[in-house]
Amino acid sequence: MRSIVALFFIISLSSIKGQTTQLPIYYCSENNASIQFTLSSSSHSAWNPTSSCSLQQCDTSLNSNNSCRSSSTPCFDYRTINNISYCAPGILCSILERCNNTTQTCSSNSLVCVINSCCSPQPVCLPFLATQMCERGWVSTGNMTSARYWHTASLLSNGKVLVTGGSANGIFLNSADLYDSSTGTWTPTSNMTDERIYHTASLLSNGKVLVTGGIAATSPLNSPELYDPSTGTWTTTGNMTNARRSHTASLLSNGKVLVTGGIDNNANVLNSAELYDPSIGIWTTTGSMTNAREYHTASVLSNGLVLVTGGYNGNTGILISAELY
Ligand SMILES: *[C@@H]1O[C@H](CO)[C@@H](O)[C@H](O)[C@H]1NC(C)=O
Ligand SMILES: *[C@@H]1O[C@H](CO)[C@@H](O)[C@H](O)[C@H]1NC(C)=O
Ligand SMILES: *[C@@H]1O[C@H](CO)[C@@H](O)[C@H](O)[C@H]1NC(C)=O
Ligand SMILES: *[C@@H]1O[C@H](CO)[C@@H](O)[C@H](O)[C@H]1NC(C)=O
Ligand SMILES: *[C@@H]1O[C@H](CO)[C@@H](O)[C@H](O)[C@H]1NC(C)=O
Ligand SMILES: *[C@@H]1O[C@H](CO)[C@@H](O)[C@H](O)[C@H]1NC(C)=O
Ligand SMILES: *[C@@H]1O[C@H](CO)[C@@H](O)[C@H](O)[C@H]1NC(C)=O
Ligand SMILES: *[C@@H]1O[C@H](CO)[C@@H](O)[C@H](O)[C@H]1NC(C)=O
Repeated sequence: MRSIVALFFIISLSSIKGQTTQLPIYYCSENNASIQFTLSSSSHSAWNPTSSCSLQQCDTSLNSNNSCRSSSTPCFDYRTINNISYCAPGILCSILERCNNTTQTCSSNSLVCVINSCCSPQPVCLPFLATQMCERGWVSTGNMTSARYWHTASLLSNGKVLVTGGSANGIFLNSADLYDSSTGTWTPTSNMTDERIYHTASLLSNGKVLVTGGIAATSPLNSPELYDPSTGTWTTTGNMTNARRSHTASLLSNGKVLVTGGIDNNANVLNSAELYDPSIGIWTTTGSMTNAREYHTASVLSNGLVLVTGGYNGNTGILISAELY
């Protein structure tokens, strides 16, 4: 008997946020119905699919014609009596109700009657919500607490995503939101001291997020802020040498952060660069770039060098050049 790690499927008609004791693999919610998967060894709808039933794992390759999301959750090809295909994970047999075996229908139109589960020789009702777990492509998740653009988003080491600042309806924001991927919801966290657009946010190796520069009101900022995910608070740290916006910030392999270019508070496009040392909270200038650049990019390469490309230099225009730090 091969060992089976089944997917335990829970459906509840109200939010079950906060009541879980295990980390879910997936969670989604729609119209207040929530689905969560946790590990279980109980028999499920795809249990032992080779002998007594015909539920096959979906082909999730990109060029296949089904709409299954390729994911760590195995998805199975459920069929209706008319041979229409639905992709959904294995579902705990004990929660699958049987279809009306005369009409091949289910009690609710949120369910579809499928004939090839391994739970019962009779058709069972597959919740449409389950098919969402296997959809390829874009699915909605919770809305942020504010509309924003020109903001930043950083993946934290606890798996949450921190969104900071940006602009909405002509005002600049100092607010920050946290996205919890296990519930698909956003919650506000502490506000930054300054409103910021055109700023940067970098996850440091100590787990904190360094936000630098950007514009508050009218002029670029020299004062960075540090977000501590363990306390949900912002603190100040050493000021940069230059105020900057539309610059770049890159975490180097030695744990320092390299900031390059941007525009200062006299509207000069900068070629200067500076380094932040998180262990002492201090900035030092480092060699300048050959070109002044704003709206450029910086990528940390696998050899540890930083590749800076393009941007705008304010005078002669849009740059084709690239340089390495
Ligand atoms: C979801 O639940 C909330 C509070 O329980 C309720 O106000 C709302 O109408 C529900 N929405 C739907 C679509 O059922
Ligand atoms: C995919 O499905 C569409 C529409 O059902 C069909 O026209 C197309 O030929 C299919 N492609 C493949 C590769 O099977
Ligand atoms: C159902 O459709 C699949 C293709 O999607 C086909 O291979 C299979 O033979 C069909 N089964 C029946 C019973 O028509
Ligand atoms: C199945 O549906 C038919 C038609 O709606 C109904 O007459 C019958 O009672 C249903 N059977 C069961 C077992 O619910
Ligand atoms: C339909 O289901 C009922 C109970 O669920 C069962 O007793 C009956 O034998 C089934 N009929 C057929 C034709 O499978
Ligand atoms: C998110 O916002 C959009 C636009 O306001 C709205 O249509 C949608 O219903 C919202 N979604 C949720 C889950 O609140
Ligand atoms: C953040 O600032 C906004 C606007 O000033 C205010 O409405 C909101 O309550 C503040 N949020 C927190 C968490 O302090
Ligand atoms: C950093 O700069 C801000 C604004 O320019 C200033 O208010 C603050 O005192 C400076 N902090 C330090 C530690 O110099």
